[in-house]
Amino acid sequence: MLKAVSIVIPPDKSISHRAVMLASISEGTTCIKNLLMSEDIKRTIEAFRAMGVRIDIQRRRLKPATPCMNGVAQFIARSCADIKVHGVGMFGLKKPARQIYLGNSGTTMRILPGILAGQDFEVVLTGDKSLSSRPMQRIVKPLREMGANIKSVNYKVLSVNKKEIYPPLEIQGGRLKAIKYKSNIASAQVKSCILLAGLYANGLTSVSEPEKSRDHTERMLKQFGCKVRGEGREVSFKGPVRLKSPRTIEIPGDISSAAFFIVAGCIFPDTKIIIKNMGLNPTRIGILDILKKMGANIHLRPGYNRNEAGQISEPAGDIIVKSSKLKGVTISPKEVVRAIDEVPVIMVAACFAKGRTIIKGIKELRVKETDRIKSMVTNLRKIGADIKIRVAHVEGEYIVINGGKLLHGARVSSFGDHRTAMSMLVAGLLTKDEVIVTGLDCINKSFPGFEKLLYTFSQ
Ligand code: S3P
Repeated sequence: MLKAVSIVIPPDKSISHRAVMLASISEGTTCIKNLLMSEDIKRTIEAFRAMGVRIDIQRRRLKPATPCMNGVAQFIARSCADIKVHGVGMFGLKKPARQIYLGNSGTTMRILPGILAGQDFEVVLTGDKSLSSRPMQRIVKPLREMGANIKSVNYKVLSVNKKEIYPPLEIQGGRLKAIKYKSNIASAQVKSCILLAGLYANGLTSVSEPEKSRDHTERMLKQFGCKVRGEGREVSFKGPVRLKSPRTIEIPGDISSAAFFIVAGCIFPDTKIIIKNMGLNPTRIGILDILKKMGANIHLRPGYNRNEAGQISEPAGDIIVKSSKLKGVTISPKEVVRAIDEVPVIMVAACFAKGRTIIKGIKELRVKETDRIKSMVTNLRKIGADIKIRVAHVEGEYIVINGGKLLHGARVSSFGDHRTAMSMLVAGLLTKDEVIVTGLDCINKSFPGFEKLLYTFSQ
């Protein structure tokens, strides 16, 4: 019998960070509806509270999982709230009393410095062990070019002219100058950091990148009144800019969190999942295109997300997934940019697909919360997958997975990485015996309650 379930996934992490940041430095009060309340977003909220911004958590939004009518069981993730941010304006932030600890939040560590570079005080940003080993030169270099003074005692000399910098970062803000920056990596964190610094700089700030990365910052800047130009791989605007609150922002579900249920829906037999109110931003839905290419039975029911002023902010809608017969495919570096956080769970899908899957352009996976190539290859091999890392002369590393093998249980590790943990729990849905994943606390970074939701879904 076809099992039909309806799921509400937690709100988008990337959009939640940006909403708190822009609301804090804008003029006016912003009500952010359906904000993600995960570990990382709490770090961003606390960072702005430490700099004098009043942020009220108004109400937790969703009820616990409830069985629903019409024969469709409904499961709702609870990790969200409506909040009210009392914006202090571009120069209203205050020097924090102490260092700001950002836990494991890479997005805060890489985007917030853009704002801090424009302030007239010094801040030290610190993080946990994993965050303290994540490369920061990619944001430090352009910010220094703009005139910011950033120091770190945690660095490595890689070659004669190459140095990598890691947190803690000491940022002394000041007067900034606008730059035209050509980034050699497609990274929304780098782009966002420069754009936020550009708000404080005189003249045209522009960022170009090899492929278009997620564009949530540009979209939200427009909502706050900044005239951002450019749709493709280059975006620009003239500074300085005073941001004005749009009063309300509503955040749709996170496609990166939904990805685990989308893959589960494809590989689990006799299943139909309706995932409600999902963000469907074209720069984020690479996973849907890749899975469709693999033969997945996925349909979209588009809707739109409007703010109180009636402006369309982020495309949103429902995703309907049915059990599918997946086949192996080749995934290009360009496709990977639009599915960068979903590669671990795509590897899982490839293990259950018939034939060979090749995933190219995976270099950036080495520097996520953990080295995700290492974590996923180690774990999937432990449960019997046929998976190899190869290196091509020009394109660099790529992954080859020969799918369709019968997988078995094993004890595997999260490697402290939320997406590795959730991917392996999805893999465990269909193995011959149990997959035990150790170190599940990291899941709270983006998807509190994931294990319970997955368990309920699989019963
Ligand atoms: C993010 C951008 C991506 C992504 C991360 C969130 C963002 O990182 O992997 O989880 O919110 O801007 P990169 O900018 O390093 O690609």
